[in-house]
Amino acid sequence: MKEKIAEIQKIAKEKIAEIQNLQEAQELKVKLLGKKSELSNLLKGLGTLSPEERPKIGSLVNEVRKEIEEKLNEKEEFLKGKVLAQKLEKEKLDITLPGTKIKRGSKHPINRVIEDIQDLFVSMGYDVVDGPELETDEFCFERLNLAKGHPARDMQDSFYITNEYLLRTQTSSVQARTMIANKDKSPIRMICTGKTYRREDDATHSHQFNQVEGLVIDRKELNVSLADLKGTLEVFVRKMIGANSELRFRPSYFPFTEPSYEVDVTCFKCGGKGCALCKKTGWIELLGAGMVHPNVLKMNGYDPDKYAGFAFGTGIDRLAMFRYGITDMRYLYTNDVRFLSQFDRKDEE
Ligand code: DAH
Repeated sequence: MKEKIAEIQKIAKEKIAEIQNLQEAQELKVKLLGKKSELSNLLKGLGTLSPEERPKIGSLVNEVRKEIEEKLNEKEEFLKGKVLAQKLEKEKLDITLPGTKIKRGSKHPINRVIEDIQDLFVSMGYDVVDGPELETDEFCFERLNLAKGHPARDMQDSFYITNEYLLRTQTSSVQARTMIANKDKSPIRMICTGKTYRREDDATHSHQFNQVEGLVIDRKELNVSLADLKGTLEVFVRKMIGANSELRFRPSYFPFTEPSYEVDVTCFKCGGKGCALCKKTGWIELLGAGMVHPNVLKMNGYDPDKYAGFAFGTGIDRLAMFRYGITDMRYLYTNDVRFLSQFDRKDEE
């Protein structure tokens, strides 16, 4: 019996030494120590032995069993360590390697101009306000002194959605909205930037474009005047187009201002000498502006005897073209990455 046990012990040691991986270790464990193992069978057969031999053999079997178990555990620990080391080696990261560069998008030139305009006017104490693109006839026209059937409505071909609703043709609609919201309360100093829509179908005009509107109203005794309008527009244009830009006010007509002006700026390309861009005049038409018409003040809750103001409006797309020397407006809307990527963020940082 003792020889048998010694034999089992010897073979077990050899087998344990041959184990290559954790699975083999598991299998061998079952084979050597499981219910059907030789050692278990020996224990089951203890009853056939004499009472003196029984405890001796019993404790011998248990000792061997314990030894085998320990050896197997040792081997398992060793194998686990090996697996971990392999894994660590495989998953090693060099955190000093340079990362993959992520391509950054660029800000659209129109959005850049909008942000610059907003920054400038906020620095002069203006509020930036917003208004709906789907506008009512009332706010887009009537409250701006353009009654139904007014001939000046022909200046702006409109997209009507219903009889009452249309896509706003001008951000001037926000003038009326701001006055109604303030009603005789306080001075108004606001700008509004946003999308506008007209039925244009020639090659140089887009049916959707962007405008900026400005409105200042204050008490009459403070003398809000044409000089203030001129000074404000000068700051605006010089900041947006060029420090040497000069302005020229030409009398014009808009129903919501009286007097009204079209404002020209010295050609940014030739500096006023005359070139193809400015059709040899040295001037480029840029803005509409004027003193707020008393009817508009009255209709929107401001007593024209107590209040006065000025307003101006212009196309942001044109400003962007002048500012960045873009020669065709369609570049602004076709979203060609080769065009857009020229406006990267370097000069913003
Ligand atoms: N809304 C006018 C247009 O779209 C531009 C304009 C002219 C705005 C005179 C004004 C203004 O505020 O006073 O053609």
